[in-house]
Amino acid sequence: MATSRSIRVWDLPVRLTHWAMVLCVAGLYATGEYGWLTMEWHFRFGYAMLALVLFRLLWGVFGSEHARFVDFVRGPGAIGRYLRNWRSADYAPAIGHNPLGALAVLAMLALILAQTVSGLFSNDEIEWYGPLSERISIAASAQWTEWHHLGQKLLLFLIVVHLGAVSAYRLLKREDLVQPMLSGRKQRSDAADARWRSPWLALALFSACLCVVWAISVWGPAGPY
Ligand code: HEM
Ligand code: HEM
Repeated sequence: MATSRSIRVWDLPVRLTHWAMVLCVAGLYATGEYGWLTMEWHFRFGYAMLALVLFRLLWGVFGSEHARFVDFVRGPGAIGRYLRNWRSADYAPAIGHNPLGALAVLAMLALILAQTVSGLFSNDEIEWYGPLSERISIAASAQWTEWHHLGQKLLLFLIVVHLGAVSAYRLLKREDLVQPMLSGRKQRSDAADARWRSPWLALALFSACLCVVWAISVWGPAGPY
């Protein structure tokens, strides 16, 4: 039997993005829902979240092997096979995201993008106006604000499902998915190190995302009439 060894799976950009998103999500709910700090911080966390999700989408195209969408997004056939295999004796844990988990990853990224974009157009009708909210009509901004309220509930639901799935793998399959998200490595006998892309490329892409978000925050708000 081949001996298992520690292989590279999640590169630093994927891990940093993930844990930074977790911090931002906590900050966003604490400031938006529970009045922690001020709404100014809600906007700061929101801008950070927008830059992170834009970067993660780009990294899904240009990034390291298991970060790429082509590596983990699979059709219904592969998802069906994975589900049938789940209970069989020859169940093989995935190296990167499994075909079912990939759906959750896509759903979370899409919802995070939608939620941050809706925030840009939302307002609280008193003091806090998303940077693009005054570029559209009052009625349209009210509609975006409604979507922002709905989106935060949907995202919370997906996060609960996400944490439930991570716990289910731990309990039912004795598979620890969290440790690899921290260390970047898995113990495997049937796979090789993932091909890494340069961290400088990640830094360049992330800087570009930050510039876009900064431009929205500075030039987005309509000037005084
Ligand atoms: C994933 C990202 C985000 C999450 C999870 C989130 C979550 C929330 C939550 C929980 C609330 C309180 C809603 C309520 O009272 O029911 C809120 C309100 C708000 N958020 Fe966000 N937010 C995000 C991104 C953003 C961004 C990027 C901006 C703008 C830069 C923004 C601007 C606002 C505004 C203006 C409100 C006030 C709306 C109101 O009081 O009706 N949010 N958000
Ligand atoms: C609270 C907000 C959270 C959000 C929005 C979130 C979102 C995500 C996303 C988008 C991914 C895909 C990673 C990628 O390919 O870039 C992911 C993966 C993952 N997350 Fe989270 N996550 C959250 C919280 C957590 C927490 C608290 C934990 C640990 C207890 C966790 C554990 C994991 C693990 C282990 C994976 C990898 C799953 C796999 O191996 O396929 N997440 N998460």
